[in-house]
Amino acid sequence: MSKITSREIRLASRPKGIPTAANFTLARTELEPLQDQQVLVRNLFISVDPYMRGRMNDGKSYVPPFELGKPLDGGAVGEVIESRAKEFKPGDAVTSSFGWREYFMASPKELHRVSRDIQPLSVYLGALGMTGMTAWVGLNLVEVKAGDVIFISGAAGAVGSVAGQLAKLRGCRVIGSAGSAEKVKFLREECAFDVAFNYKGEPVLDHLYREAPDGIDVYFDNVGGKTLEAALAVLRVHGRIIACGGIAGYNEETPQPGPSNLFNIITKRLTMKGLIVLDWLDRQAEFEKEVGGYFTAGKVKHKETVVKGIDNAVDAFLALFHGQNVGKMVVQLN
Ligand SMILES: NC(=O)c1ccc[n+]([C@@H]2O[C@H](COP(=O)([O-])OP(=O)(O)OC[C@H]3O[C@@H](n4cnc5c(N)ncnc54)[C@H](OP(=O)(O)O)[C@@H]3O)[C@@H](O)[C@H]2O)c1
Repeated sequence: MSKITSREIRLASRPKGIPTAANFTLARTELEPLQDQQVLVRNLFISVDPYMRGRMNDGKSYVPPFELGKPLDGGAVGEVIESRAKEFKPGDAVTSSFGWREYFMASPKELHRVSRDIQPLSVYLGALGMTGMTAWVGLNLVEVKAGDVIFISGAAGAVGSVAGQLAKLRGCRVIGSAGSAEKVKFLREECAFDVAFNYKGEPVLDHLYREAPDGIDVYFDNVGGKTLEAALAVLRVHGRIIACGGIAGYNEETPQPGPSNLFNIITKRLTMKGLIVLDWLDRQAEFEKEVGGYFTAGKVKHKETVVKGIDNAVDAFLALFHGQNVGKMVVQLN
């Protein structure tokens, strides 16, 4: 096969505050000829995720930082173009962590085969991928059960919209907050949330006092900050918090003070559990079976916002911090 030129996004500089397009470059690279035990993959969809903001900073965390001048990585779904490994053949659909680029070569163990029968294949980045699994793990972690009143922030995003739908299937009363009227409509009409509100209008606490006058059992936290403070105020005795994300603080140059009412954890005997989905990869098959079953039965919807072309991938990523996605933000490559 003739040499393949692939475009990829590299980290040009580390941001201070909100990242901008100047922190990235779009570069071309020529792939080496394929070796034995290697597979050549063309990406069809790549994922952009809020957690990648943390990887733009230098410093130790649960995943290594992106390296300056090097291509970024992240979730992707692609198709095998050529294979010199018996495990894969051309046409196979695979997920990998070789996102932010058009083509790549990998060893079989770096690829995960997925079924082409399930469409669109981008669902493997969303409801049936990392974000859907985060939602599923979060609910399991604090044993969300029938009758619970659960409040989910960032509810119209990739994690939140699946968490809410799964909580409905478990028989919960589900309340969600999101940042626009369009998102509120989506939550009520497509995800069957019992209550959804726009947190950019009235304070979250006022909404919660009105919509959950007897309090909430569970808070699924995707944003942190003032929303966490409001949830702490309305959690019932023995309430549980799933600490999943804190996007409200990801672009702060200096850490913001924590909630002023943390003492509620003591007085109400609350449990707050942190979650990193990567810790749960040994449960992936179980997740795929359960949530894949709901998806094919039409019980869980995969909503996505699709941006086209690798040259628009950075804009898609930056748009996450301006709430411009409904459901999972993905980039479709040509
Ligand atoms: N712990 C884990 O293993 C794990 C795994 C995946 C994701 N996460 C976390 O889960 C959260 C959701 O991730 P996702 O992939 O589903 O993203 P997402 O919700 O699909 O997209 C991000 C959304 O966050 C909201 N947002 C942006 N800036 C905000 C701000 N300053 N304050 C409040 N909301 C803001 C926007 O929605 P609005 O229009 O509603 O504001 C935006 O659409 C993130 O915090 C992410 O880091 C954690």
